[in-house]
Amino acid sequence: MSTSTASTTGLALEHLTVRFGGLTALDDVSLQVPPGRVVGIIGPNGAGKTTLFNVVCGFVRHNGGAMTLDGRPFRPRPHHLARHGIARTLQGVGQFNGMTVLENVLVGGKNAKGALERCGVAEHAHELPGRLPYALRKRVELARALVAEPRILLLDEPAGGLDADEIAWLEGLIRELDTTILLVEHHMDLVMAVCDEILVLDFGKPIAIGPPDQIKDDPAVADAYLGAAA
Ligand SMILES: Nc1ncnc2c1ncn2[C@@H]1O[C@H](COP(=O)(O)OP(=O)(O)OP(=O)(O)O)[C@@H](O)[C@H]1O
Ligand SMILES: [Mg+2]
Repeated sequence: MSTSTASTTGLALEHLTVRFGGLTALDDVSLQVPPGRVVGIIGPNGAGKTTLFNVVCGFVRHNGGAMTLDGRPFRPRPHHLARHGIARTLQGVGQFNGMTVLENVLVGGKNAKGALERCGVAEHAHELPGRLPYALRKRVELARALVAEPRILLLDEPAGGLDADEIAWLEGLIRELDTTILLVEHHMDLVMAVCDEILVLDFGKPIAIGPPDQIKDDPAVADAYLGAAA
């Protein structure tokens, strides 16, 4: 089930464990993320998806296991992420409200105009993000990550709160991007459409890993979601 053979390129998580006091938020999670792949991470609320991103970004320290980037030990620190070519979006919207859209995106890199254009929000560059509709704020959040021109992009529920048209736009963007992507998402149609591989977490434990067709039909995955809905 887990893929623990070290790859020479890309990101590898090897037997990661994270504990918050008595709670095990990630429990022996291994994952290979080769260059150019779109890897989905799904699971019920509280499964540990955002925690996994926090570990990759150095916001949270793991208690066990290790990570490698291009075969070398990887001990991330948030302020070194850009140097490693890693960028993330935050669950929800993550902008500073005292700054304009343009200023928010400039925090992440130089070509803010290009990133705003790519996300279709350049005309809102001089507005405050808090005044924009939620869907446009989500696009600003994407631009904030894309401006760093990351080679590994971590998207935390980018479709959350969006309507079908916005999700279709997002699907197009994900397909166009020439970037390795880790996608945390509850919108199953999007996950199944864009991911090469999907890791399923439940209470921090990996319960399945494989291509979309396999995950769709996995009874353990259905059980995890039914349990969460009960
Ligand atoms: N900094 C923290 N301190 C203590 N507990 C935490 C912390 N961060 C997360 N947790 C707990 O760890 C577990 C996993 O949380 P996490 O946010 O990773 O879940 P998630 O899969 O992203 O859920 P959701 O789909 O709701 O976003 C939850 O029980 C959560 O309450
Ligand atoms: Mg989360």
